[in-house]
This record gives sequence, structure tokens and C-alpha cells, in this order.
Amino acid sequence: MKDAHVSGMPAYRSLVAEADADLGAYWGRLAREFVSWRTPFAKTLDVGSAPFFKWFEDGTLNASYNCLDRHVERGLGDKAAIVFEADDGQVNRVTYSDLLARTCRLANALKTRGVKKGDRVVIYMSMSVEGVVAMQACARIGATHSVVFGGFSAQSLRDRIAGAGAVVVITADEQLRGGKQLPLKAIVDEAIALGGCDSVKDVIVYRRTGGQIAWDALRDRWMHEETETQDDTCEPEWVGAEHPLFLLYTSGSTGKPKGVQHSTGGYLVHAAVSTSWTFDLKDEDVFWCTADIGWVTGHTYITYGPLSIGATQVVFEGVPTYPDAGRFWQMIQDHKVSVFYTAPTAIRSLIKAAEANQAIHPGRYDLASLRILGSVGEPINPAAWEWYHEHVGGGRCPIVDTFWQTETGGHMITPLPGATPLVPGSCTLPFPGIAAAVVDETGNDVPNGQGGLLVVKRPWPGMIRNIWGDPERFKLSYFPPELQGYYLAGDGAIRDVETGYFTITGRIDDVLNVSGHRMGTMEIESALVSCTALVAEAAVVGRPDETTGETICAFVVLKGPRPTGDDARRIAAELRHWVAKEIGPIAKPKDIRFGDNLPKTRSGKIMRRLLRSIAKDEAITQDISTLENPAVLDQLMERN
Ligand code: WT7
Repeated sequence: MKDAHVSGMPAYRSLVAEADADLGAYWGRLAREFVSWRTPFAKTLDVGSAPFFKWFEDGTLNASYNCLDRHVERGLGDKAAIVFEADDGQVNRVTYSDLLARTCRLANALKTRGVKKGDRVVIYMSMSVEGVVAMQACARIGATHSVVFGGFSAQSLRDRIAGAGAVVVITADEQLRGGKQLPLKAIVDEAIALGGCDSVKDVIVYRRTGGQIAWDALRDRWMHEETETQDDTCEPEWVGAEHPLFLLYTSGSTGKPKGVQHSTGGYLVHAAVSTSWTFDLKDEDVFWCTADIGWVTGHTYITYGPLSIGATQVVFEGVPTYPDAGRFWQMIQDHKVSVFYTAPTAIRSLIKAAEANQAIHPGRYDLASLRILGSVGEPINPAAWEWYHEHVGGGRCPIVDTFWQTETGGHMITPLPGATPLVPGSCTLPFPGIAAAVVDETGNDVPNGQGGLLVVKRPWPGMIRNIWGDPERFKLSYFPPELQGYYLAGDGAIRDVETGYFTITGRIDDVLNVSGHRMGTMEIESALVSCTALVAEAAVVGRPDETTGETICAFVVLKGPRPTGDDARRIAAELRHWVAKEIGPIAKPKDIRFGDNLPKTRSGKIMRRLLRSIAKDEAITQDISTLENPAVLDQLMERN
């Protein structure tokens, strides 16, 4: 790839050297090249109130102007911004002009309802053009959006609405996935009925399926009625670079999910530069990121990154297995997708499906349009990497294994397709300008070949700015005092002795990664013990899984006697249902085991390492001499 945006290792190294020499000047140059500013910034990086770093603080801009208007202004109004494919296969092409007009109409509608700069708007939507438009409309008027993944329960949605103090919720009547109509509006109703959502004045409903829903005439508004009379132009609200563009709740190791707060200017710079370089996107490319807008991947690599650089992208409503597990390959063929970005868990499940049914094997489709493949969300094991490379990429497409997090805003460690020699299973080298390192518990570098904590030594534009409403938790979670002011990612990593390539070894805290979805073990434990009629105590651990990365395994002590046989299976099913209600179906423990007690140390700490071994059906090698009641181990080894 000679004409790549970053072509060859010398080009990569010179960018790294430029950033090393003057970090502020380096990102400042990119900020001017990739983003249009209403008021140019004079300051680049401000470390005065570290770790509350500020980037381009005296500059003003608007994210939606950058994603829409400026492309129309340079004559790209008729270019497809989004090629939307619905669950049932219907295709809808939306040009940059269309997307701008639709964004303006919704922005005007929000303004008519009194939404102002700085207000928070919760978006609880399925994958749709309207979902992207809702995010862009918020950005246009300076409202901070908080998208909640459509798979979260009413309780989780309530917590996020209340936590953000949202004034409006934007939702759809129902969502359509895999041929099934699933509720959205009904869950919003339920969330608001749970209480604590008095800040919500309006619920704006996109009519997707026309299914039956309850209606509150004082609060609920149809999106099409709200927007049809609105003007299709809307002056953007020019905001300071540090103005919060969005909140996105994510799981931590303790307590409730935290509202990760991102900026406008720095975030957009990181989104634009990384979309351009990591995916080497050119004008004629067709990009497809299969993530949901409810996760950060959908924010950065659907709503903001590709649109900010004027790319054409596919947005997909459905699931990879409907009408069959060849859907992704069919869509790549139909839309001539050239850059494809998905998660290892999807690849692994499609490998299984293709092995079981050769008719939907990627080899049966014309995938010649592909030139770059991407992976995100969890480590990609070498076997899956090889299959992806050979059967999807035809042996010719580089795979960019992109390591990053909700908190980092954009890619942190990733190959650049025209520069970095690839090694399956390694996310290779830091993105230019990202000071990633592996250190010990006191923040000192460990030699290559020796594992340690993954940190980032210097700030970067897309980084988390705060935890919404909890600056103390922000400091403690990400900049613990013992780490010399470095950003703590929460993952372990090891660098190759020769190449310095990074391999991520997994979370070092109690955060699980199930099918690329991040879940806190404490969160699931709280959900279980909140079933006060049944549960006395619960401990949750992850078990490695070939397809989903990890699965959730729960050890439960009931208030009543320990159940066995059919009773145990019935209660386990009940508890799974309970957790789905409390958090969402993605948090359901796959394996639930019952004991008279949990294994604890003398000081009363649950021996999680021991539970992890039991979950894996591993022989126990830990010292269990301090266990009060070793008989519980036999109980906990019993599967239901
Ligand atoms: C955690 C962040 C970043 C968007 C999706 C997930 C894991 C993510 C990789 C990768 C190994 C990865 C880490 C990280 N992770 N990408 N390429 N290789 N691990 O965002 O929900 O904030 O989760 O996902 O453990 O800390 P998230």
C-alpha cells in the first residue's frame, strides 16, 4: 500500500518523533488539518489542572458542522454519507445534504422543546439513521448526549437518565433485530415510572415498526410530527473545545457504572485522525463498522469519525446471523465494502457457523472489494486472526487490531495498515502521539518481555475528561497516586523483546469482557443480592470462553437451604431472569452454582482466584487451609 495516509515505518517513526519533540504542537497541527474551527485555538495542551487536562481550550467549533456542513460546502452534498441496511434487507442511501437537513430539523425541534446548550439528552435507540441524526442534532445545539445501548434494562436506563439529569429522551417505538420486534418505548415508560426521572420533560419517539405502545399525551411526541414543520437549516451552536460532547456510561470494577465524559474539540480531533490513518480511508472507500451506537465504537467510528472526514459508510440495523450467518459477507458483497471493522466474538461465531454450513462460508461470496479489515473490543486470538485474514480478507488485507477503551475516545495501540508489519494476536504499536507504556505497581518501566500494567504517560486529545459528577472517582480510577500521574488503562500488557509490540493480557480489575461487552462483576453481584427474597450472598467471576471471550459465572448463597437438581435449575433460571431485568440480557450469568457458603479467607474476603479455578473446572492449587468450610468447594463444583 504505497499511497496510504501513513505509508511505511519511516513515516510512522517520523510522526512518533514529531509528537515526542512537542506533543502540543503535533496534535495542534493535526487539529488544524482535520477539524474546522470557528475560532482558532491559540493554546494546545494545558496541564495546569492535571489530571483534568485541557486541549485547544480557547478554540470554538461545532462537531455537527464538522461532520456535515463542511462537506456539503465543499461540494460533497450528493455523496452518500450513510448506506443504511435494515433488518429486512431494505436499503436506504442518505447523502450528506440529506443527513444535514434531517439533523437540522431535529435540532430545531429540540430547541422548540426548550433544549439548550449544556442540557443532557438520553438516546435509547436501535441502529438507525435516526440514531445518528439524534446524536448529531444534540451536538449541533450543544446538548450533551448520553446514548444508552438498546439492550439495557429499564432499571439501567433509569439510572442513566437520573444520573445525567436528562431533559429529553429520544427513543423508537420498537426495534427490529433478527426479524423480531423488541420494545424500546415501553422500556422508557418503565424506566421513568421507576422514579427519579423528573428532569425529563419530553420523550421523542421515532416510529420504526408501528407496533402498539402506550402514550402519554403530555410527555410523548412523535419524531416525525416534531420535525416535519421545522426548517432544514439550523445555525450550529459554537462551543468551546472542552464543552462536553457526550457522556457514555461504562462498567468499572466497583459500584455503579460511571458516566465517561468526553470533550468536543479534542475528541473530534482524535476521532478524525484515527479514522483516517487506522482505516486509511480515502474518498472512494466504503467503510463498515458493525458496532452499535450504544457503545463507544459506534460513537467514534460511526457517528463522529467517518462523518468528520466525509466518508461513505454502511449502517446496519440487524444481527450477523439473520436471515443466516452469511449476512455480513452478503452485505460486504452488495455494498462493495472496502474497509470492514468488527469484533473477534463475531468472527469466532461466524467461523463456527461457516464450519457447520459451507453455504454461508465467506468463500462463497465476492469479497474482492475489501482492502482493510479491523478488529476491536477484545484480544483477537491468532486462530481467529488467521481465518479472518485468509477467508474474509483473501490473504491480501491487513488486519488492524485496535486496542482502545470507552475512556480513551479513539484508537490507542493499533497497526497502521500501510506501515506496520503485522503479528497475529498483537495490537502492535501505539498510535502516533499516544505515549503507551508497560510499568510496574509504582509506575516504573518494566523491560520488554516482562508483563505489567498498561499506562499512558502523557495526555492525548480524545482522553476522558471526567466521570460525570464524580471528579474524585475520576482521579482515583484513572490517575492513582502511586503511578506518577500516568493514565491507568486497567489492562495488563507485555511488549515483545525484539519488536516492542504490545500484547494485551486482559483486565487487571474485576471487569469482564463478554462478547466485547464490558461488565463489572460487582454490578452483577449487586443485581443478584438485590433479589432479597432469595439471595443472601453472591460472587461473580469470568470464565474464559472460546467464542465470547469470557462468560459470566455466579456463585450464590441462598437465604433458604442450598437447592439441588430441578430446584437448583429452576432458581438459577429465575435469577438469570432477575439479572436481565436489573441490568440487561447481556449481564445474565451463564453458569450459576449454589453453596451453603462462599470460600473466604480468615478476614472474610471472598477467594475469587479460587472461584475462577472452580469456574474453569481446574484442579485447585491454591492454599485452602484457611477455609472455614472446605466442603463448600465440592458444592460449588457442581454444575446446574
Ligand atoms: C476494554 C475496553 C474500545 C471499544 C470497545 C470496547 C478490551 C478493547 C481490545 C483489543 C485487546 C481489547 C480491553 C479494554 N479491548 N480492544 N484490540 N485487544 N483488548 O470498549 O467497553 O470500554 O472496553 O476492552 O480490556 O480495556 P470498552
